Amino acid sequence: MKYKLFILTVLAGTVLLISCNSGLETENEGTSNMNVSEAAIDSLINLMTLDEKLGLIHASSSFTSGGVPRLDIPELVFSDGPHGVRHEHGRGWYALEDADDEATYLPVGINLASTWNRDLGYKFGEVLGNEAKERGKDVLLGPGINIIRSPLNGRNFEYLSEDPFLTGEMGVGYVKGLQDQGIAACPKHYAANNQETDRHNIDALISRRAMHEIYFPGFKAVVQDGGAWSIMGAYNKINGQYTTHHEYLNNEILKGDWEFDGVVVSDWASVKDTREALLYGTDIEMGTELLRDFDNPVYEEFYLARPAKEMIESGEVDESYVDDKVRRVLRLMHRTTAMNDHGPGKRNVEEHQQIALDVAREGIVLLKNDGLLPLDKNEIQTIAVIGHNATRHFAERGGSSQVRALYEITPLEGIRNLVGDDVEIVYAEGYEPYYDESLFRGEGGDAASQSRENRQEVELARSANQELMQEAISVAEQADAVIFVGGWIHGHEGMPWGQGTYDAEARDKLNLKLIFGQEELIRKINSVNDQTAVVIMGGSNVEMDNWLPDTPAYVHAWYPGMEGGTALAEILFGEVNPSGKLPMTFANSHEDYPSHSIGEFPGDGTVDYAEDIYVGYRYFDTHNRQVHFPFGFGLSYTTFEFSDLKVDREDDKVIVQSTVTNTGDREGAEVVQVYVHHENPSVDRPIRELKGFDKVELAAGSSATVTIELDESAFKFYHPDQDEWVLEPGSYEVQVGNSSRDIKLTEKINW
Ligand code: BGC
Repeated sequence: MKYKLFILTVLAGTVLLISCNSGLETENEGTSNMNVSEAAIDSLINLMTLDEKLGLIHASSSFTSGGVPRLDIPELVFSDGPHGVRHEHGRGWYALEDADDEATYLPVGINLASTWNRDLGYKFGEVLGNEAKERGKDVLLGPGINIIRSPLNGRNFEYLSEDPFLTGEMGVGYVKGLQDQGIAACPKHYAANNQETDRHNIDALISRRAMHEIYFPGFKAVVQDGGAWSIMGAYNKINGQYTTHHEYLNNEILKGDWEFDGVVVSDWASVKDTREALLYGTDIEMGTELLRDFDNPVYEEFYLARPAKEMIESGEVDESYVDDKVRRVLRLMHRTTAMNDHGPGKRNVEEHQQIALDVAREGIVLLKNDGLLPLDKNEIQTIAVIGHNATRHFAERGGSSQVRALYEITPLEGIRNLVGDDVEIVYAEGYEPYYDESLFRGEGGDAASQSRENRQEVELARSANQELMQEAISVAEQADAVIFVGGWIHGHEGMPWGQGTYDAEARDKLNLKLIFGQEELIRKINSVNDQTAVVIMGGSNVEMDNWLPDTPAYVHAWYPGMEGGTALAEILFGEVNPSGKLPMTFANSHEDYPSHSIGEFPGDGTVDYAEDIYVGYRYFDTHNRQVHFPFGFGLSYTTFEFSDLKVDREDDKVIVQSTVTNTGDREGAEVVQVYVHHENPSVDRPIRELKGFDKVELAAGSSATVTIELDESAFKFYHPDQDEWVLEPGSYEVQVGNSSRDIKLTEKINW
């Protein structure tokens, strides 16, 4: 543990560096920053040799960057990940077997976003901050805030939404909660890392307007409103230049317009060029060995080590570029646990497990209910729980976001715990994950090494296990009700790294078809038992045309964390009233999504974002396309009414007020969503864009008035010709509803 305090004092040109272990702890308790002066940091930089400076800006092990022992500057310690502090690696790349690293496993990012509850975003970050601190980390590599452009992206589970505003709002809470514990957030991956296929090379072709309206706002929010102390560059290129050292993204926008004074950390092996990294904003280079020889890393050969030194010594690049990076790194160190005392942290405490439970309760989404749910345990004698995912553990899956969970309550355990002896539970696996390595080509790593066509054949070759299916059907036949738990498997296991395709890093899905014969299984279950609730786990949707119409109830559970089984059971049996809302549109096939029907996915060398700003509901709603479940949608066991919309302009603000009444007979929570529609824009604009929301909890029969303030930026668009945000005079409709397709009230205002 390193709780050292460093005080820099500049005395008549002399720099004193005092390091102490305890002396000022009380004085700084509760503060997040020792507020070390920039002058003091500069004085420290003046004491360093070029080698020492370069040591600070590249990796010294798999998850540390170097320190300067002579000046008592420690290494900076990083850890994944977005929904739990990752297991220990020591200095290499293999998980340590005997490390004391069990942690709280929170629900994944998309589950957090589905809560639409900003307070939970903060608490989520706070848990991570405390656990990271207890484990001696300084920087936590999250939140993942890339926009969900295609439902096939293998990492959608880590991200938040197809909508930039919701992404930003939930990301800001997370960042603040984390940083209030003295751990730097590192929102990732800046920017447009919207696919895993060929992620190290793909060149995303994106208009300036789409960057500013869709792909940047989440990052802008976590920087400007969240105050993020670091940010992670992405692997991909945008318009020809690698994002980790991108002149426009880093220098002009992030560090220029948004005045970001923190550290741009590369993704692990995303630096590809010394000169560009020096000039275009990369501050710390990590993981380069992953594309070389990761068992024998030579840190001296990183782009920002010896090659950078040569470039500076030859005069090709000025040393001031390195100084700027070092200044940012030292600033970060003074803000975080690296050089400041933020208290001891805590891990695996009940309070953290409670937050994991709260997020799961509010993030699991009820999408269809013909009256089957909630199940009444006093009226049911036998329940068949069917499906491999009912007993599967997810914490250690998915790639770099894996967590060694202290425990993980599966759906079957959650259901058993809840019903106790009141109901007989019969479990059948129903289907099994099936792999045949010989059917795959390529050497692992990223999907580029293997053609999609070949993988498609592999998919088709997979068949259901008939024996398991028969067993499940006879179990279903005899039960009073069935809970089917299926979906994606979230892992690579059984295959070399990167070869499994289902909701995990380094691979995108091929399509949204339910794998391993699950679709046939659901249909057969429905035909023998009409009291069937389907629960799907996954980082996005699945095709449902063929099973949804005959299924009385459908719950989407994402990957709900260590208490997920508990939360799911509480929702199924009505102990918790669901309040989750989709942060992405659920259409049927991936081909329905604009990234596929208008733009390209995954492209080939380049990927054309031709759908431009029409991502998610901006496309589906504007073009009136059929979807299964719209953005913002989610059912409750009670009903709500919206009334009395008032929209007033007060100078440069618009105040939106509406009353929400719980008209049902049980307590519940509703999300009031505010969308803006520009009536006569001079350029094409979507029919609606989310600009405000609030979640309210209401007792049966009670009402609340919700007030949401919009500033003028909520009405602006990024003008493609003027290359800036513009507020056009004219008439705007403010739409209030509880999904993008269920607008209940509208009012007009003029600008
Ligand atoms: C991922 C990052 C992750 C890093 C370190 C990369 O491959 O893209 O999200 O933080 O590895 O594990």
